[in-house]
Amino acid sequence: MALPNKPNWELLAEPDLSKVPVVEHEYDALIVGGGMAACGAAYEIGKWMPKGSKVALVDKAALERSGAVAQGLSAINTYIGDNTPSDYVRMVRNDLMGVVREDLIFDLGRHVDDSVHLFEEWGLPVWKKKGSEGKKLVEGGEPVRTGKWQIMINGESYKCIVAEAAKAAFAEMGYDLFERIFIVKLLLDANKPNTIAGAVGFSVRENKVHVFKAKAILVASGGAVNIFRPRTTDEGKGRAWYPVWNAGSTYTMCMQVGAEMTMMENRFTPSRFKDGYGPVGAWFLLFKATATNGKGEHYIKSDAAKAELAKYSPYGQAAVTPTCLRNHLMLFEMKEGRGPIFMDTAAALKAFLDEKKAAGMDEKEIKKYWKELESEAWEDFLDMSVGQAGLWAAMNIEPEKVGSEIMPTEPYMLGSHSGCCGIWVSGPDEDWVPADYKWGYNRMTTVNGLFTAGDGVGASGHKFSSGSHAEGRIAAKAMAKYIRDNAGFKPTLKQTAEELKAEIYKPVKVYYENYQKTTHEMVNPNYIKPRHMMERLMKYTDEYGGGWSPYYMTNGKLLEIAMHHLQMLREDSDKMAAGGLHELLRAWENLHRIWCVEDHLRHIQFREESRYPGFYYRGDYNNVSDTDMDQGGWKCFVNSQYNPETGEWKIFKKKLHKIIAD
Ligand code: ADX
Repeated sequence: MALPNKPNWELLAEPDLSKVPVVEHEYDALIVGGGMAACGAAYEIGKWMPKGSKVALVDKAALERSGAVAQGLSAINTYIGDNTPSDYVRMVRNDLMGVVREDLIFDLGRHVDDSVHLFEEWGLPVWKKKGSEGKKLVEGGEPVRTGKWQIMINGESYKCIVAEAAKAAFAEMGYDLFERIFIVKLLLDANKPNTIAGAVGFSVRENKVHVFKAKAILVASGGAVNIFRPRTTDEGKGRAWYPVWNAGSTYTMCMQVGAEMTMMENRFTPSRFKDGYGPVGAWFLLFKATATNGKGEHYIKSDAAKAELAKYSPYGQAAVTPTCLRNHLMLFEMKEGRGPIFMDTAAALKAFLDEKKAAGMDEKEIKKYWKELESEAWEDFLDMSVGQAGLWAAMNIEPEKVGSEIMPTEPYMLGSHSGCCGIWVSGPDEDWVPADYKWGYNRMTTVNGLFTAGDGVGASGHKFSSGSHAEGRIAAKAMAKYIRDNAGFKPTLKQTAEELKAEIYKPVKVYYENYQKTTHEMVNPNYIKPRHMMERLMKYTDEYGGGWSPYYMTNGKLLEIAMHHLQMLREDSDKMAAGGLHELLRAWENLHRIWCVEDHLRHIQFREESRYPGFYYRGDYNNVSDTDMDQGGWKCFVNSQYNPETGEWKIFKKKLHKIIAD
C-alpha cells in the first residue's frame, strides 16, 4: 500500500522498504520538468532525434497544469513583432543592469515569435486591435500591445493548450511521459568524466523509485520559490507570486553534478498587488496607471527620485527604468515614511472614460465601454492570479473608486522572468559569438550531455513564457545533435539501483524509526520535518540574506552568519524525516532549496557591490561599480562551481562581452 499523503495514525504501519520496487529505465534523451521550457522541448525533439530513439519526459506534477504558467496568464511578455532581436537585447541588457549574455538573448529573440505563432495555431486567443479581429498574427493580425514587448491574451488555459501540443508530439513519436515523479538528483557517468548518465527519483503517488539512464538530459524544472520568508503568514503561506512548487531543483541538481553557475546573486523581488500577488504589468502598461505614495504624490516624477536614479547611471536614465530600480524608488519612499505605495487604479480608469467623453462618445456607448474596461481589469487577475480577484471581492475593493496597495514581495530565484540567475551554458555555435561563450552545443551546461532552458539558463532574463518555450525547443534540437554525435555512448551509473533507493527513502526510514518517541510527531530530537526545515531556512535568508524584513539589506558579516546557519541546516538535513510520500517530496524539495539559496548568498558575498538596488543591497558596498573586471570593477559575470569529487566550491569573475552596440 502506498504511504498516505497526510499522516494518519490508523494508516501508518512501518513500511517495509524491501517491498518498494525500483524501476530501471534506459533512454536516449530525458527531459526533466513539465513547464513551458519542457513542453517546448517535448514538442521539438522528435523532429531531430534519430529514427527509433527513446525519449522520455518526467514531471513531478501533471503536464496540463504544471510550472509557472499553470494558473494561466493574461499577457505574453515577449513577442518581438515589429521590433528587432537587437532591440530586445538592448532592453534586456538595460533592465538587468548591463551584465547579460547577449548571444543567448539575441538567439532567443530571433526564435521566440515562432512559438507565439504556434500557441495561436493551437488555439490560444490573442487580443487583436480593432480592424484586425479574426486574423492570426501570421496573417497580419495586429496584437493589442501593452508595452513594446508585451501582448494581451485570454490565457486562463494557456498551459493546457501548450501541454496538449507537447503530449500530441510525444504520442506521435511513441515517446514516454511520466507524471507525478520527482527527480531527486542527476547521476554522472561511471567511466566518462564530467558526463551526464542518468537521474533518479520517486513517484509521489505510489511507493516506487525510478532510475533513468540517458545519453543526454535537459533539466527545465523552473526557479526557486519559498526560499525567503514570505510576507504572507500562516494560512496564506501557500500563496506566493511564482509557483510554490518551484523548489530550486534545476539549479541544485545541475550544480551538484558540477555545472558552472552564473549570476546566482541575481534575484527577482517583484512588486505586486499587496497580499494577493496580482500582476502589475497590465495596470502600468495597458491601463497606464501610475503609482502614488501615501500622500497621493506621483513619487516617480519627484526630484528625489530623479536624484536616486542618477546614482545608477546609465541604467537609471534609460527610457524604461529597470525593474530593480523601480523597486528601489518604491522602497525609498517607504523608508522615508511616505508609504504605502498605491496603484492609482481609479485615476487610470477615469482617464480612459474622460478621453472617450472628450472624443464625443454618447452615454450608451460610454456605459458599454465602461463594462469592457471593468471586465478587462478583472480578467487580468482572473486569467493568472485568481487569488487577487478573490481578495478584491472579499475586501469590497472597487478599483474605479479606490487604489490598491502595491508592495515588493519576498525574493525569488529565476532566470526567465525579470531575473537572470542560472546555469552557464553554451551559446549558438556561430561566428559572431565570442569563443568563451560557446562549446559546441547550444544551451549545454559545462557538464557533457546536460542541457537546460527557461529558468535554468543564467544571464538571459526576460524570456517569460514564450521565450522559455522557444528556448526549450532550441535546447532540444541541440541535445538531439549531441546524441547523434555521441551515438556510441553507453551511460553507466556509479551506484546500484538499491543504493539509490536507500538514499531516497532514507527520510521515511528516519521517520518510522523515531516518530513514536515523542508525543507529537512534529517535534522530535531525532529528526527534522520538512516544514521546520523550511521555516529555519526562511528565517536565515530573511534576517541575514536580505529578505523583506530588513528592506532587502545585507552585508558581509550578515552573510557570513547566514552561511554558517545554512551549513548547520545542511548538516541537519541528514536527519530529515518524512511520514508520507507528500512529505518525502517536501523533504527533497527543501534540500534543493537550501543548496540553491546557499549558492545565491555565496555569490552576493563575492560580488562586492550592489548590482540590483531594489532587489538586494549590500550595506558595506552600497553602489554599482560599473568598470570592467580588468580594472577591478564588477561589470562582469560572477560564476561558481561545485566539485562533486571533492565537495569544494570555487567562485570567480568571468569576462562580459558586449555584442550589440547601444
Ligand atoms: S507578470 O508576469 O506577473 O504579469 P508584470 O505584471 O510585472 O508580471 O508584467 C510583466 C511585464 O510588464 C514585464 O515585461 C515587465 O517588464 C513589464 N512592466 C511591468 N511594470 C512595468 C513598468 N512600470 N514599466 C515598464 N514595464 C513594466
